[in-house]
Amino acid sequence: AYVIAQPCVDVKDKACVDECPVDCIYEGSRSLYINPNECVDCGACEPVCPVEAIFYEDDVPEEWAWYKDAAESYFAEVGDLGGAAAAGPLGKDPVQVAALPIQNQ
Ligand code: F3S
Ligand code: F3S
Repeated sequence: AYVIAQPCVDVKDKACVDECPVDCIYEGSRSLYINPNECVDCGACEPVCPVEAIFYEDDVPEEWAWYKDAAESYFAEVGDLGGAAAAGPLGKDPVQVAALPIQNQ
């Protein structure tokens, strides 16, 4: 699956959302998150992010590798909702992201 990493935190441009054919990019409080159980690896989201926050899971820079685990834990908790538009903002973040100081301002 693809992973959204630190450049999205406190930015949330959302250009990626419109590109995803399976609507699997969900809005948290401080970032957006790709559901790895729903992502079909089409890659359409990756080039449209203006801050280059999106990576294929094997290509996430080392310092942000934990975002993959954070997304997995997050969706294990919130569930596979079958579409971000209908789900709406989820109103929370993985604990690791919630603990970060303000980013990218
Ligand atoms: Fe975030 Fe980039 Fe999408 S900033 S919301 S990953 S377009
Ligand atoms: Fe959607 Fe990006 Fe995956 S467009 S299917 S989240 S690679």
